Amino acid sequence: MTIQTLNDSFGIDKHIHFHLGRGDLPVAMLENKFGTATVCLCGAQVLSYEPTNHDPVIWVSRYTNYGEGKVIRGGIPVIFPWFGPHPTDDEKYAHGFARRQLWDVKKTEQDDDGRTRITMTLHDNDTTRAVWPHAFELCLTVTLGEKLNVSMAYKNLGTESFTVTDALHTYFPVADSTKIKVRGLENVHYLDQLDGFKRKYRPNPIGIWEEVDRIYINSEEQCDIVDPVKGRTIHVAKSGSRSTVVWNPWVDKAARMTDLGDEEYWEFICVESGNVKQNAITLAPNESHETRQTIWIT
Ligand code: BG6
Repeated sequence: MTIQTLNDSFGIDKHIHFHLGRGDLPVAMLENKFGTATVCLCGAQVLSYEPTNHDPVIWVSRYTNYGEGKVIRGGIPVIFPWFGPHPTDDEKYAHGFARRQLWDVKKTEQDDDGRTRITMTLHDNDTTRAVWPHAFELCLTVTLGEKLNVSMAYKNLGTESFTVTDALHTYFPVADSTKIKVRGLENVHYLDQLDGFKRKYRPNPIGIWEEVDRIYINSEEQCDIVDPVKGRTIHVAKSGSRSTVVWNPWVDKAARMTDLGDEEYWEFICVESGNVKQNAITLAPNESHETRQTIWIT
């Protein structure tokens, strides 16, 4: 669809407008009394969220290579249908295909209470079936209200069960990653991705002074990212998600990543809401699942 057709079909005066963003990717801009948000139709990836009169709550790398089929380093990548490396085939790219595909807009809405909403869909196609032989519908709905609500809903449209690992892989900006604390996971076990997925437990809030790559399992807790330098806390609540991934690449991994600046590990923390490892979701034909993340600041 051209930008003109997107605006004619789904634009809402003063609230939703489509334009070509970096790398000529189609982007939806949502705007209302609560703030602004932008969503790239490539990956259905939220790129920004700014509550009115507040600093950005979503982070994107200045070194991102924008283009269809590429990965945008930041925002809220939609991870589906596998999290991390493919479970059996290293040749298949990490974190599934949803973040690399161009999605369709399904509908846009403006509520009476002022909230603005866009729903995008992705169905199985030749590219997805070549790497994952299942029929599905995936919907990503972004609602800009007093909080930002992001919902990833998927349905098995095939005749056999399938198993999915998923995540809303959100990058949050912080003033200095070494000064923040992530609270909410003190009583939860995690699998340490940097130590052979060993199951570990730390009773304290999470601080960043080295690479951190943890999958907290069996956790439905809200997380709070306390940023004393900025003087604010980012809250991340969720439903339909039993895993939380906390990731910061630190010095060496940031230096290895070509789409991340060497120093940018200072600027963000990923707190991801999903279903990973033993929390994988199995769906029988016609069954569906919804993973939802809600973000706000105080
Ligand atoms: C996190 C993983 O979810 O994503 C990390 O836990 C990974 O291991 C990170 O490095 C970024 O992944 P990618 O595929 O976007 O480079």
